[in-house]
Amino acid sequence: MTFTNLLPFLLILVYSEVVALVHRKCISPSPSSNFTLDGYYGLWFEVGKIQTFGGALLQRHCVCTTVQVAPKTNRTNGDCTAVNSCRKLKPQGQYLNATGYLENMNPPGKWKQWFFVFAPEADYTVIYLDKDFAVEYDCSDKLGMTNYCIHILARVPNPDPTKVQSLVEFAEGLGLNKSKLRYKETKQRGCW
Ligand SMILES: *[C@@H]1O[C@H](CO)[C@@H](O)[C@H](O)[C@H]1NC(C)=O
Ligand SMILES: *[C@@H]1O[C@H](CO)[C@@H](O)[C@H](O)[C@H]1NC(C)=O
Ligand SMILES: *[C@@H]1O[C@H](CO)[C@@H](O)[C@H](O)[C@H]1NC(C)=O
Ligand SMILES: *[C@@H]1O[C@H](CO)[C@@H](O)[C@H](O)[C@H]1NC(C)=O
Repeated sequence: MTFTNLLPFLLILVYSEVVALVHRKCISPSPSSNFTLDGYYGLWFEVGKIQTFGGALLQRHCVCTTVQVAPKTNRTNGDCTAVNSCRKLKPQGQYLNATGYLENMNPPGKWKQWFFVFAPEADYTVIYLDKDFAVEYDCSDKLGMTNYCIHILARVPNPDPTKVQSLVEFAEGLGLNKSKLRYKETKQRGCW
């Protein structure tokens, strides 16, 4: 192939990179100062989320959503698996499970997240952590699109709604809701 033949492809590539730069909307919040790996490992119930369309599409049938965080086998550098599990449409629906990989932790509480080798990598940050709750923000600026999700997670499926509301406001206060999306509660009733 000659350079002239390649030129249109190069132009498209440059163009899409510029579009991606201009529309870049991910924020880089600091991880929670409370963060420890031991504090984040284990089972979390998804209480609710604020999510862009791209991610919402993948999870649109989900109810009873949980995430199970564990260290990757024999890893002590912070590499984790995050098994996202939910039921299709109803509590007795089939399992829709997807394993995310959290790697390159730096600083503690902030990783790169992968689902499949070909899927865009996202920044994944635990912005709040105490013994009962976690708030996680993930975001990717890829292919000219920004997709983000703010997950409110709790150790029980039916946590205190006042605390949940204050965590939603906390995330909002960090300026993470760039696309002005609404908070959606995850259905957990009848699941457990
Ligand atoms: C993890 O470490 C244990 C003990 O050193 C070893 O027996 C095991 O094969 C290792 N597993 C993997 C997947 O590397
Ligand atoms: C999905 O994940 C849940 C929770 O970790 C587990 O109990 C279930 O067996 C998994 N189901 C499938 C089909 O992988
Ligand atoms: C750390 O945890 C405490 C409760 O255990 C909570 O009040 C505080 O807001 C947390 N701080 C951060 C930065 O998450
Ligand atoms: C996100 O932003 C919009 C517009 O500012 C606001 O109406 C909405 O309540 C925000 N969502 C959350 C969950 O705070």
